[in-house]
Amino acid sequence: MINITYSETKPEVKEIALARFEEGNDSWTQVLQSGQKEIVIGIGKKEDFTRRKFIITARRIAVSAKAGKIKKIAVSLENILSFSPFLKEDEAGELLIQNMELANFEFVAYKTQPEEGWNVVEEVIIYGAIKEEIKQAIERGQMIADEVNASRKLINTPGGEMTPSVLAEAAKKAAQGLDIKVSMLGKKEIQELKMGGILGVSEGSREEPKFILMEYMGGEGKPIVLVGKGVTFDTGGLSLKPEQYMYEMHMDMSGGGAVIHTIALAAKLKLKKNIVALIPAVENMPSGSSYRPGDILKTMSGKTIEVLNTDAEGRIILADALTYAKKYNPELVIDVATLTGAASVALGERASAIFSKDESLIEKIRKSGEESGDYVWPLPLWEEYEEDIKGTFGDVANSTKTRYGGAITAAVFLYQFVKDVGYSWLHIDMAPRMTSIEGEYLAKGSSGAPIQLLINFLRKL
Ligand code: BES
Ligand code: MN
Ligand code: ZN
Repeated sequence: MINITYSETKPEVKEIALARFEEGNDSWTQVLQSGQKEIVIGIGKKEDFTRRKFIITARRIAVSAKAGKIKKIAVSLENILSFSPFLKEDEAGELLIQNMELANFEFVAYKTQPEEGWNVVEEVIIYGAIKEEIKQAIERGQMIADEVNASRKLINTPGGEMTPSVLAEAAKKAAQGLDIKVSMLGKKEIQELKMGGILGVSEGSREEPKFILMEYMGGEGKPIVLVGKGVTFDTGGLSLKPEQYMYEMHMDMSGGGAVIHTIALAAKLKLKKNIVALIPAVENMPSGSSYRPGDILKTMSGKTIEVLNTDAEGRIILADALTYAKKYNPELVIDVATLTGAASVALGERASAIFSKDESLIEKIRKSGEESGDYVWPLPLWEEYEEDIKGTFGDVANSTKTRYGGAITAAVFLYQFVKDVGYSWLHIDMAPRMTSIEGEYLAKGSSGAPIQLLINFLRKL
């Protein structure tokens, strides 16, 4: 975490580089007469500067500092605000530090530390007159980023070291010292609950499935339940993935990682809400004991799933988790999953796909995404698509004849398990945002999406 300090006056010592925004297209680092370095970040035309650009620009400060091996930088909020009339002071402080922290993160857990230490920004001095509430906003931004970065670390951990039981331990660790009750169900309890979906998918692995539950009761009223896909490694099972598609499948627990750290963050921010996180955790492996194409699994709901493709495993385990969520009599259920490659085909890698029957919820989530930088875009959840997932021998099939509209048919499959519940449900297919992309100034690996969206949404609810 960056050490943040405040100074009334501009620090003028060599060890501290000054960073500022300026109109124009170029960015550069220069040495001032005093010998002090200055990082100048071109923001383009002032009239064209937007919240979206602000987010990227904040990250560019940290990335430019790292490129210059600069460890201490000073920024003036006044300078930054003068280019950002679309932001309130506290928002600017929060977003600035949050995004600098995100850009400062590197996944180094498996690298040997170089003699000179890791190349990261260690200290940010914010100078000028700063009100107490702005300092609080800055602290909040840092807390948010810290939690997002913790999720990135968890999600980046290789599959061999991140099994369902390790993920369950990670949930406990994330909740340590917080007002969150964590429990986990093992194979026996999952059997007792008749969660045939989770059991079926986990059958091929020597790792037992876990059903992770986290409960934060910070307020009154019905809880909001977050469900996260926790496939700790997705080989595809017997419908084995080709090698170029298996790479990165240790990140198939990104939805789980996101909801674990969202609920932890909600507790840290002391949100006056009741929130539950449910994470069905399995490893999808091919072996002599694997579930097979043609198998019919009986889910906790009573509905049967005809398995056409063992690689469409996410929707199977989520079906049981969505059924379990009913126990909480929730106000709302949101699931987060790296569910389909088709979502990336539809949207590219810049936005997660969202689905819901609740139009006003879609609008709220879209807005939270826009404000936080975790962009999302809606796709239809029309009943016509139900034709595509009709089972021949079971109630629903987990895959379709056509490749077209795969993100939609997966969402429509999930909808079968929340159809009659009487509360709103929203599905986030975050496969497009599983990893960061070039140009967003985030380290390779997990992007940390969509924690910022979720926490923004929960704060406003
Ligand atoms: N976890 C994958 C989807 C995925 C792929 C996420 C790449 C992130 C990056 C999911 O379990 C899967 O394999 N989906 C299949 C579904 C198909 C078999 C119907 C897919 O997208 O190809
Ligand atoms: Mn799969
Ligand atoms: Zn998967």
